[in-house]
Amino acid sequence: MKRRSLAISLDESAETPVFLQIARALTVAIRSGRLGPGDPLPSSRALAGQLGVHRNTVLAAYDELRAEGWIEALAARRTQVAASLPIEAARPGAARGRRAARAGGLGFDLPEHDGPAPEEAPPPGAMILSGGVPDLRLVPRTALARAYRRALLRRGDDPLAYGDPRGDAGLRREVAAMLSAERGLAVGADDLLITRGSQMAIALCAQALLRPGDAVAVEAMGYRPAWDALARRAELLPVPIDDEGIDVDALAALVERRPIRAVYLTPHHQFPTTALLSAARRIRLLALARARRFAVIEDDYDNEIHYSGRPVLPLASADRDGLVIYVGTLSKILAPGLRVGFLSGPAPVIARATALRERLDRQGDHAVEAALAELLEDGEIGRHARRMRRVYQGRREALCEALAARLGGALSFRLPAGGMAIWARADPTIDVDAWARRAAARGVVVATARRFAFDGQPRPCLRLGFAAWTEEELWVAIGRLAAALDGRGSPRRRSG
Ligand SMILES: Cc1ncc(COP(=O)(O)O)c(C=O)c1O
Repeated sequence: MKRRSLAISLDESAETPVFLQIARALTVAIRSGRLGPGDPLPSSRALAGQLGVHRNTVLAAYDELRAEGWIEALAARRTQVAASLPIEAARPGAARGRRAARAGGLGFDLPEHDGPAPEEAPPPGAMILSGGVPDLRLVPRTALARAYRRALLRRGDDPLAYGDPRGDAGLRREVAAMLSAERGLAVGADDLLITRGSQMAIALCAQALLRPGDAVAVEAMGYRPAWDALARRAELLPVPIDDEGIDVDALAALVERRPIRAVYLTPHHQFPTTALLSAARRIRLLALARARRFAVIEDDYDNEIHYSGRPVLPLASADRDGLVIYVGTLSKILAPGLRVGFLSGPAPVIARATALRERLDRQGDHAVEAALAELLEDGEIGRHARRMRRVYQGRREALCEALAARLGGALSFRLPAGGMAIWARADPTIDVDAWARRAAARGVVVATARRFAFDGQPRPCLRLGFAAWTEEELWVAIGRLAAALDGRGSPRRRSG
């Protein structure tokens, strides 16, 4: 058999002794199929010469490999890879073997991709107005970093240990206090499960609540990531929405035809239209849920972000019958990458969701949670929320002015009372999806109604998020959007 020269690189400065480095490199070569069972190894003298080490070093490496059963000595001082090693000689198809392993070459019968189609990547450097994300440039990072440091160094109740799967006790206390003081929910620390964002809360809620054959009603335009989590357990039934949120009469008609286990909705700022669920519909919805015995999954994702007076209290605050499962998050008021949300509701749902969470990821990040508890307790998050409300209100106004000035003939909209986006209706002669594509080529990304529609059909509406951009930036973005409408000027060059 032809001897290949073995590519082994040594690091003299490493802590691992050189003989072990050689032994490990040979093990890797055997595992990867570059050396197969029965293949001869170079003589210790030859390999020492190749590597520029003392022969005894190579002998020590060979001794090690022999002791572990990787190689065997033959007569006349020849050494080979152990002939009986249960490793396939992968050459010459070694690369093919690796590809097959990556692709699940053992023949696992996996579905290709059962999630939503990935969204088209925005052009590099584009201004993204499609999401409702906060301005991460304004996050109080120094305070967060200090609180995180203190959490890591605190005495007792070590956040790096296994801990309560419901989340850091301090954070549960602070969130419960905030929910009682500001949102009218009668909850204590033990009624809460801290999750990794509302996405985990909704997915756990789906697993805890839904059984095969169940149906869940959803808003006919809504939040697709939540639908994806719910649809794994139940059939989803769309209910029309209008300027007052979900159409509760239509929901009542639906449950006449087909019992549902739950309705998932965004009553505070309907996603994506920002409509507030009217008081009459709130009362009617809770009465219907009580009469028809279904749960209400209330996604209150941006409760803190309102611009006129106090926000309307959540449905959960009026729930006397244990019907509402309440989902909240710090993604909007602070930052989505922290992955901190919470779930509250009837005790059996929380207990089951907690058991499921424990199975899935044991517990959240208690160090981050403890840091956030401190920021809630010392008022930092409250101050940040007040500041963001002022900043975002200015941005909301700037966006409205820019839209009126540059696109007044093409778009109409109502000033939203809260939230981080404007829902605008386009002149019906405009193909909004084509417009959005042209706008993306000019460096501004907006979301069209099709993305939120249960039926995936186009509608002449756009969602424009304003929170992440300064007032000046918003004017630039709307300038580009206007240019994309009538084709003025040249598209922005893509970089990269
Ligand atoms: C309707 C709705 N719910 C929840 C969230 C927040 O999700 P998470 O807490 O998982 O970051 C968003 C964010 O875009 C949202 O739009």
